[in-house]
Amino acid sequence: MSDVLIVGGSGAIGSALIQHYGALGDRVTALSRKAAPPWVQGRGWLHWQSVDEQDSASLNTALEHSLSRAPGIIYLCQGWLHDEKTLPEKAISQLSDEHLLQSLAVNLLSPARYLQALMPYMFRQPGVKVLVLSAKVGSITDNQLGGWYSYRASKAAVNMLVKTASIELKRRNKTATLVTVHPGTTASELSAPFQARVPAAQLQSPDSTASRLAQVAARLQPEQTGLLLNWDGQPLPF
Ligand SMILES: NC(=O)c1ccc[n+]([C@@H]2O[C@H](COP(=O)([O-])OP(=O)(O)OC[C@H]3O[C@@H](n4cnc5c(N)ncnc54)[C@H](OP(=O)(O)O)[C@@H]3O)[C@@H](O)[C@H]2O)c1
Repeated sequence: MSDVLIVGGSGAIGSALIQHYGALGDRVTALSRKAAPPWVQGRGWLHWQSVDEQDSASLNTALEHSLSRAPGIIYLCQGWLHDEKTLPEKAISQLSDEHLLQSLAVNLLSPARYLQALMPYMFRQPGVKVLVLSAKVGSITDNQLGGWYSYRASKAAVNMLVKTASIELKRRNKTATLVTVHPGTTASELSAPFQARVPAAQLQSPDSTASRLAQVAARLQPEQTGLLLNWDGQPLPF
């Protein structure tokens, strides 16, 4: 039995990761902005804690408890692409301050807050593995189609944030691994408006994505720290 920490437990991929590790017999701590959903009840292996991440006292208290269990694997699952009134931009004329700031708040600032708070633990914990969920569309090299300005820019920014943090981490803990990972297109609220365009074989269920991510995590080596990885563990270009 080992301990796994999952930030963003209410999302499709976050929830599926919780269930995946629970089924393996691991102990899971889930942090979320939201209260525990009903399915959490009766799962003794799962500790769900609601966090106001904008309040550093709330964040630090939640992490103090979670890290006392010495998790060996940590996932940051936060992400935002659209809501009822905002769809990803097709043209720069559609870009707005509000849209760009919301993308940056969830896709960059939220993982940045967690990484900052987690870093002292990552410096000292032997063999710790931290996977920050990003997206292939945040690869500047891979961008052939354009569009989705705010999401692409905020995911490119989180890739750079994680790469930079990985360099600092490597100097202090040579056994730790910190990467960004593209989970692959997965049926969730985030991808819902765009799923019709995805060939059926390419659209993963949250359960299969969780199982693929867990395989990536299991095989991660410290030499890979700083990389942007695809769901199959292969490196993607920045
Ligand atoms: N689904 C896909 O096809 C796909 C493709 C490429 C990359 N990704 C990436 O994979 C990750 C998980 O996506 P998903 O499909 O599971 O999406 P989802 O079901 O929409 O879940 C959204 C996640 O973001 C967090 N979140 C939402 N609004 C937030 C806010 N205002 N502040 C902080 N956290 C917030 C939620 O955490 P709480 O528990 O705190 O609510 C939840 O973990 C994201 O990074 C996404 O960009 C997904």
